[in-house]
Amino acid sequence: TYVIAQPCVDVKDRACVDECPVDCIYEGERSLYINADECVDCGACEPVCPTEAIFYEDDVPEEWEDYTRANIDFFELKGLGSPGGAQRTGALDYDDPMIAALPPQNE
Ligand code: F3S
Ligand code: F3S
Repeated sequence: TYVIAQPCVDVKDRACVDECPVDCIYEGERSLYINADECVDCGACEPVCPTEAIFYEDDVPEEWEDYTRANIDFFELKGLGSPGGAQRTGALDYDDPMIAALPPQNE
Protein backbone atom coordinates (compact mmCIF):
# COMPACT_ATOMS: atom_id res chain seq x y z
CA THR A 1 0.00 0.00 0.00
CA TYR A 2 0.88 3.64 -0.08
CA VAL A 3 0.93 5.93 2.97
CA ILE A 4 0.07 9.61 3.46
CA ALA A 5 2.49 11.27 5.88
CA GLN A 6 2.96 14.54 7.76
CA PRO A 7 3.15 16.94 4.76
CA CYS A 8 -0.58 16.42 4.15
CA VAL A 9 -1.62 17.50 7.64
CA ASP A 10 -3.56 20.82 7.55
CA VAL A 11 -2.89 21.05 3.79
CA LYS A 12 -5.24 18.48 2.24
CA ASP A 13 -4.58 19.50 -1.35
CA ARG A 14 -6.71 16.55 -2.59
CA ALA A 15 -4.97 16.28 -5.97
CA CYS A 16 -4.32 12.65 -5.05
CA VAL A 17 -8.02 11.90 -4.69
CA ASP A 18 -8.70 12.68 -8.35
CA GLU A 19 -5.95 10.31 -9.51
CA CYS A 20 -6.90 7.22 -7.54
CA PRO A 21 -8.64 4.68 -9.80
CA VAL A 22 -10.22 2.83 -6.88
CA ASP A 23 -11.26 5.89 -4.81
CA CYS A 24 -9.49 4.64 -1.69
CA ILE A 25 -8.11 7.95 -0.35
CA TYR A 26 -10.36 9.03 2.52
CA GLU A 27 -10.65 12.45 4.08
CA GLY A 28 -10.29 13.06 7.80
CA GLU A 29 -10.43 16.40 9.55
CA ARG A 30 -6.73 17.36 9.19
CA SER A 31 -5.33 14.77 6.80
CA LEU A 32 -6.22 12.23 4.18
CA TYR A 33 -5.65 8.50 4.64
CA ILE A 34 -5.10 5.65 2.19
CA ASN A 35 -7.10 2.50 2.84
CA ALA A 36 -4.54 -0.33 2.71
CA ASP A 37 -7.21 -2.96 2.00
CA GLU A 38 -8.47 -1.07 -1.04
CA CYS A 39 -5.27 0.45 -2.50
CA VAL A 40 -4.09 -1.51 -5.54
CA ASP A 41 -0.58 0.00 -5.47
CA CYS A 42 -1.01 1.75 -8.80
CA GLY A 43 1.13 4.64 -7.55
CA ALA A 44 -0.80 7.31 -9.46
CA CYS A 45 -1.33 9.43 -6.36
CA GLU A 46 2.31 9.74 -5.34
CA PRO A 47 3.69 12.12 -8.01
CA VAL A 48 0.72 14.51 -8.00
CA CYS A 49 0.90 15.54 -4.34
CA PRO A 50 2.35 19.07 -4.26
CA THR A 51 3.74 18.58 -0.75
CA GLU A 52 5.23 15.11 -1.46
CA ALA A 53 3.23 13.56 1.36
CA ILE A 54 2.67 10.16 -0.28
CA PHE A 55 5.10 7.25 -0.06
CA TYR A 56 5.15 3.58 -0.95
CA GLU A 57 5.00 1.74 2.37
CA ASP A 58 8.65 0.61 2.15
CA ASP A 59 9.82 4.14 1.41
CA VAL A 60 8.20 6.09 4.26
CA PRO A 61 10.93 8.25 5.84
CA GLU A 62 11.91 7.04 9.31
CA GLU A 63 10.71 10.24 11.01
CA TRP A 64 7.21 9.56 9.65
CA GLU A 65 7.08 5.82 10.29
CA ASP A 66 4.11 6.25 12.60
CA TYR A 67 2.03 7.51 9.68
CA THR A 68 2.02 3.98 8.27
CA ARG A 69 0.25 2.90 11.44
CA ALA A 70 -2.00 5.98 11.40
CA ASN A 71 -3.20 5.24 7.85
CA ILE A 72 -4.26 1.77 9.03
CA ASP A 73 -5.68 2.74 12.41
CA PHE A 74 -7.83 5.51 10.93
CA PHE A 75 -10.07 2.86 9.41
CA GLU A 76 -10.30 0.87 12.65
CA LEU A 77 -10.85 3.80 15.00
CA LYS A 78 -14.60 4.11 14.43
CA GLY A 79 -15.19 0.86 12.60
CA LEU A 80 -15.07 2.34 9.10
CA GLY A 81 -13.24 -0.73 7.83
CA SER A 82 -13.24 -1.01 4.06
CA PRO A 83 -16.25 0.96 2.78
CA GLY A 84 -15.25 0.61 -0.88
CA GLY A 85 -15.37 4.27 -1.89
CA ALA A 86 -14.18 7.52 -0.43
CA GLN A 87 -16.52 9.70 -2.44
CA ARG A 88 -19.70 8.15 -1.11
CA THR A 89 -18.22 7.99 2.39
CA GLY A 90 -17.61 11.73 2.35
CA ALA A 91 -15.34 13.79 4.59
CA LEU A 92 -15.01 12.48 8.13
CA ASP A 93 -14.73 14.69 11.20
CA TYR A 94 -11.93 12.89 13.01
CA ASP A 95 -8.26 11.90 12.69
CA ASP A 96 -5.89 9.34 14.03
CA PRO A 97 -5.21 10.54 17.63
CA MET A 98 -1.53 11.18 16.87
CA ILE A 99 -2.50 13.53 14.05
CA ALA A 100 -5.35 15.11 16.00
CA ALA A 101 -2.88 16.02 18.77
CA LEU A 102 -0.37 17.78 16.49
CA PRO A 103 0.02 21.55 16.70
CA PRO A 104 -0.84 23.36 13.45
CA GLN A 105 1.31 21.91 10.64
CA ASN A 106 2.73 23.02 7.30
CA GLU A 107 1.67 26.65 7.62
FE1 F3S B 1 -2.71 15.47 1.04
FE2 F3S B 1 -1.11 15.59 -0.97
FE3 F3S B 1 -3.34 14.33 -1.22
S1 F3S B 1 -1.49 17.21 0.50
S2 F3S B 1 -4.70 15.38 0.13
S3 F3S B 1 -1.68 13.77 0.11
S4 F3S B 1 -2.41 15.61 -2.74
FE1 F3S C 1 -4.96 4.85 -5.22
FE2 F3S C 1 -2.56 5.72 -4.74
FE3 F3S C 1 -3.23 3.28 -4.09
S1 F3S C 1 -3.75 6.16 -6.51
S2 F3S C 1 -4.69 2.73 -5.65
S3 F3S C 1 -4.03 5.13 -3.25
S4 F3S C 1 -1.28 3.93 -4.86
